[in-house]
Amino acid sequence: MHILVIGGAGYIGSHVVKALLKRNMKVTVFDNLSTGTKLNLFPQAKFIEGDILNYEQILAALKQNVDGIVLLAGKKAVGESMLNPMKYAFNNINGVINVLNAMVEANVNKAIFSSSAAVYGMPQYLPLDENHPVNPINFYGFTKLETERFLKWYDQLKGIKFVSLRYFNAVGYDEEGDVKGLEENPQNLLPIVMEAAIGKRDKLKIFGNDYPTRDGTCIRDYIHVTDLGSAHALALEYLDKGGESQILNLGTSVGSSVLEMVNKTQEVIGKKIAYEFAPRRPGDPAELTAKADKAKEVLGWEATHSSLENIISSTWNMYKNL
Ligand code: UD1
Repeated sequence: MHILVIGGAGYIGSHVVKALLKRNMKVTVFDNLSTGTKLNLFPQAKFIEGDILNYEQILAALKQNVDGIVLLAGKKAVGESMLNPMKYAFNNINGVINVLNAMVEANVNKAIFSSSAAVYGMPQYLPLDENHPVNPINFYGFTKLETERFLKWYDQLKGIKFVSLRYFNAVGYDEEGDVKGLEENPQNLLPIVMEAAIGKRDKLKIFGNDYPTRDGTCIRDYIHVTDLGSAHALALEYLDKGGESQILNLGTSVGSSVLEMVNKTQEVIGKKIAYEFAPRRPGDPAELTAKADKAKEVLGWEATHSSLENIISSTWNMYKNL
């Protein structure tokens, strides 16, 4: 299978590329390098610099005998999406429409889409299964949900089969060190903890210690990007065998609190992390954990790299020599 990985020079994309190469797929990366970096490219994969907002560019890439796509390109900062929804509508929605229309024109009918736990909004019960009502509370999550709806219609009307993967909290780095690029200006917890550990920032601010959780800090389901990568490979193989379209959670079902992440990091790296408690961040649910049984049933997928220990040590390998 020849797969076009759109956004393949990014943080998750590069781990997906590695997983597909491992399963002997032919891979072409399509990326505008706005947040991705050439450091994340693999020599075995062809690279096309292009933008999904440019219809001709994405069409030309799809016309190179592509069997399927993985669509990861998009904006993903939740806070920014609330301040600048126009940017998120423009990039995440217009980009998706261009890709889907170009797929129809180029006769490509398999798509894996990077969706998010953010589609669910405030949980009504935990762990979240795929039938939990979807009611995003941030604009980023809304763009992911709308994309899933576009995919359903393009399946029904144009026969594009898709697997939408709702990631929980993506963390960690390739344990073999093949992904070299670090995310610039990270917004997520673990990279910020790492930056506090190496002194790149004074301290971590823990957003809220009065949540109704075991230690008062928010609980999340952290999933290693190597596990996310293998799910994409399995999803492509599933569609290649004629599988029906699916929406699947990718998580571990184990929740860790912010304080647990900090304490475990101190233990694994042997350094103190300076932190202080700060007010809650608007829009943060107290707890998010995934029920990921469906991904196991449909794809045979399980998280095998997502112990906190492995998540932290693989991330520390990237930061310790900065
Ligand atoms: C959010 C989205 C998720 C999305 C991800 C992409 C929601 C509910 N989740 O995850 O779908 O894929 O962003 O970026 O919209 N924290 C601190 N201090 C910090 C940073 C984070 O205490 O400086 C805490 C947060 O309050 C949260 C946890 O750490 O409880 C994880 O935060 P973060 O890494 O930003 O991810 P989410 O907001 O959970």
